[in-house]
Amino acid sequence: MSLFSCKKQACVFLLVCVVSSVFVECSRYTKDVSHSCIGEFCVAKSAFDEPCMDYRKVTKNIERDIDNEEEEDHDFIDYPKEGLFRWDPVEIGHKRELELEADKFYSMITRAMEPPIFEIPGFLSDEECDGIIDRTRKQGLFNSDVHVDPDAREQEKKIKRLIGHADSPAGNFLVWDDNRDGVISKDELKSFAAESKFLYMSDEEVDEMIEKMELTEFDDGIVTIEEFKTLRTAAMEKYFLEMKKTHPKHRDRYSQQTWLPQRGNYDKLLRQIRQRVANLTKLPMSIIKGGEHLQVVHYNINGHYHAHYDSQSNVQFPQYKCCHQNLDKLPECRLCRYITILYYLNQPEIGGETAFVAADVDDFNETEFRKREKGDHYNLSKFCHQATLVIPPKRGTAIMWYNHHLSASGWLGDLDWKTLHGGCDILKGEKWLANNWLTAPNEGEKHIRSNYYIKELEELHDDSVY
Ligand code: OGA
Ligand code: FE2
Repeated sequence: MSLFSCKKQACVFLLVCVVSSVFVECSRYTKDVSHSCIGEFCVAKSAFDEPCMDYRKVTKNIERDIDNEEEEDHDFIDYPKEGLFRWDPVEIGHKRELELEADKFYSMITRAMEPPIFEIPGFLSDEECDGIIDRTRKQGLFNSDVHVDPDAREQEKKIKRLIGHADSPAGNFLVWDDNRDGVISKDELKSFAAESKFLYMSDEEVDEMIEKMELTEFDDGIVTIEEFKTLRTAAMEKYFLEMKKTHPKHRDRYSQQTWLPQRGNYDKLLRQIRQRVANLTKLPMSIIKGGEHLQVVHYNINGHYHAHYDSQSNVQFPQYKCCHQNLDKLPECRLCRYITILYYLNQPEIGGETAFVAADVDDFNETEFRKREKGDHYNLSKFCHQATLVIPPKRGTAIMWYNHHLSASGWLGDLDWKTLHGGCDILKGEKWLANNWLTAPNEGEKHIRSNYYIKELEELHDDSVY
């Protein structure tokens, strides 16, 4: 055993001892996050769903490890002094050939400068894509952030019973009558929903609404000023809001997902991918192992994910700890995902592009953008192809970008607001994708290890977990 690795293992021991003495009872790990909103911003809420575990057991296991020369090197203190590595994008179209495995070369092509976005075709083999999909199918998928309201039927009945005009602009005929021809057409109903509620209805959905709500004023397809007097605009407005809230097609995210742990020594396929990721990102193993589980996402027809950020701003939320370091189980934490690597596991027949709506936009201002004065460009069902960078999904391709700037000292800096992105509608076929999120610390929190990494160390020595 070399002196170097011996020292590292001693550190493993020390650190786990500290962790175990501070958290004497037990702690849980973040597996998934939901979001709570404060004003217009959302903060991740940890969802702890793994069983409580005892850190004293970890200490014992690590002790055992120190005696064992065969054990792998845990790279516990491998942070480089100069901070986090970051590829220079050079210029759009710039192509590098990277040897990510012995004698295996991969092209990495710059797709955007701000944020730096790279495409790596064939990063995953067909076998790897299928392997991830198989594992996901075995494990099962659940709806991505879909809230099922058990009172939906009750709500529907209530809306049906609601009579009278809305107090809002919806109670005003002229607000509906876009072309000022004295009648409201079904198309005008559609434009009203789109412009005032950012709800994009199909013709079938408009007909369904008229029928369900018994809006007899629309019997001949139009509503005159006379008929408008009895039109239940308060109820119509409620219907729009309810539809946006509950109908999956109109939600911000319409997909299913699951999480696959990449850690430990039990899954060769996922471990090999992770090693390739380490070579691609040139980040130390402790950062790689401190990354989140692989999030596998499945979209059916109409599936999408409107424009969003994968990470959160430390300038905006300085009071919160990074979720991956949230050992003391604080109810709120902030996502600190330095890098996103997104893998396309299949190729949808039509649609399903990944759109970056602010990439390389000069002077992009998210606060202005949020006002939606030029239309709701967060809505990728409608504005997919207006985005500045649109990447069609191709099986095996990886897309990598940096969600954060670097701080002056080279550690996690503020969120890069130009990383706003999402997944466009699947128009034909289905889409399988995986998100590989690599977390990183702020300068002041370098000494706090990622929950995911600690968990890995612990499981490495506890075969009963598998
Ligand atoms: C995501 C995401 C993009 C896509 O899942 O966070 O941004 O192309 N997906 O589906
Ligand atoms: Fe995303």
